[in-house]
Amino acid sequence: MNRPKTYHITTFGCQMNEHDSETIAGMLSQMGFSESPGRDEADVAIINTCSVRENADKRFFGTLGQLKKKKLADPEFTVCVCGCMMQQQHVIDSIKSKYPWVDIIFGTHNIHQFPQLLESVLREKEKVVNVWEDGGDIVEGLPAKRLYKHKAFVNIMYGCNNFCTYCIVPYTRGRERSRRPQDILDEVKRLVSDGVREVTLLGQNVNSYKGDEHTDFADLIYRLNEVSGLERIRFMTSHPKDLSDKLIQAYGDCDKLCNYIHLPVQSGSSRVLARMNRKYTREDYLNLIAKLKKTVPQITISTDIIVGFPGETEEDFEETLDLVRKVEYDSAFTFLYSIRRGTPAEKYEDQIPEDVKHQRFNRLVETVNSISAEKNAGYVGRVEKVLVEGLSKTSDRTYTGRTEEFKLINFAGTPDMVGKIIDVKVTEGKTFSLEGEVI
Ligand code: SAH
Ligand code: SF4
Ligand code: F3S
Repeated sequence: MNRPKTYHITTFGCQMNEHDSETIAGMLSQMGFSESPGRDEADVAIINTCSVRENADKRFFGTLGQLKKKKLADPEFTVCVCGCMMQQQHVIDSIKSKYPWVDIIFGTHNIHQFPQLLESVLREKEKVVNVWEDGGDIVEGLPAKRLYKHKAFVNIMYGCNNFCTYCIVPYTRGRERSRRPQDILDEVKRLVSDGVREVTLLGQNVNSYKGDEHTDFADLIYRLNEVSGLERIRFMTSHPKDLSDKLIQAYGDCDKLCNYIHLPVQSGSSRVLARMNRKYTREDYLNLIAKLKKTVPQITISTDIIVGFPGETEEDFEETLDLVRKVEYDSAFTFLYSIRRGTPAEKYEDQIPEDVKHQRFNRLVETVNSISAEKNAGYVGRVEKVLVEGLSKTSDRTYTGRTEEFKLINFAGTPDMVGKIIDVKVTEGKTFSLEGEVI
């Protein structure tokens, strides 16, 4: 029988998408498929899309274009597309009209149906589009083929209720839904018995997690801190408006909670923050940072910043630069504002010209990088606990890992170190990473 045997998944976007791809891979493994190293050799190709910025859209359509030749040469080749872009009707319409050879379109809310959809397409040789508009109940117990052996993503909630005026995510991921604390604890215990030492709890805004009347996000951390065998707990992303004193205290109390936080600020100007509907001011944010640094002096902090949001003036932008200098971020993801169809900011008339956006972006990146380099230089001579992830891409003797504070560190190592937490002395601080030697 010439039943398809191998699959390949291309993933765009955030950790949510990466984790969804792990679930899709897990379901395909259960169906008897194996992973193909390249997309061109695979029998089934899946593209998991992101729509957070325009360049993510463009990359998706570019990838589809590349698949066209193979599909035309081999009609048995099955092409499936899913993820955030598929939650937008205009995207589905354009796939149907310009890429009619795509076999399966499904969305973010019905990933669990993928095996059925694939079976039916392979059997009937007909195309299917099946996208749910809303989340429905959380489906537990789906398999996952994890990308890493020693660390794992664990979704604790889905969706977002915040409707920041620039953002598409509330439209593609639906409303907030939290998993039951017991389901999360059971999953983490299972992962630990499988060799996982570090979990990253995922949600668009984990701070508004509400498991039941006794379990908010901080409570969940306290409960996970008790799981024996688990060594590190991380989470992302947390919204400043919901970052509670109780969670800050958890950093002080829970030894497994890593001294690192990703706390997206988006802008340093209260005026811009209000137009973004972020629901905090520059001062609120700086107060939170002060509290965090007081409770956990060694904490490292990263952020997301959008440059060129409609109406952003030079003064607003300088407030962002000033905030970056005050907080002294260890790293920052910086983005050019990108108009997203259907969001309120799409309609704002005071869009910023591209050249101004780019010029501000470059100034911001320069500031961010010089602070990162300075902070990393301060680590030289320190001994860090490093969870070894594996070989670095550059050499077959250099291994990489993460310090508790989420710094990427490279060092000469051996294969037996992978998955262990070892002591590494920092010998050099670069802009985006550290160099070290095992002691
Ligand atoms: N839930 C997370 C962020 C998810 S999107 C949070 O609230 O922090 C990741 C980042 O993409 C955002 O923090 C924001 O900085 C950026 N982003 C989202 N929409 C954008 C847009 N339209 N243009 C540019 N950057 C955007
Ligand atoms: Fe988007 Fe704001 Fe929700 Fe984050 S909190 S996903 S930026 S709407
Ligand atoms: Fe992109 Fe969807 Fe994540 S839009 S950033 S993949 S939630």
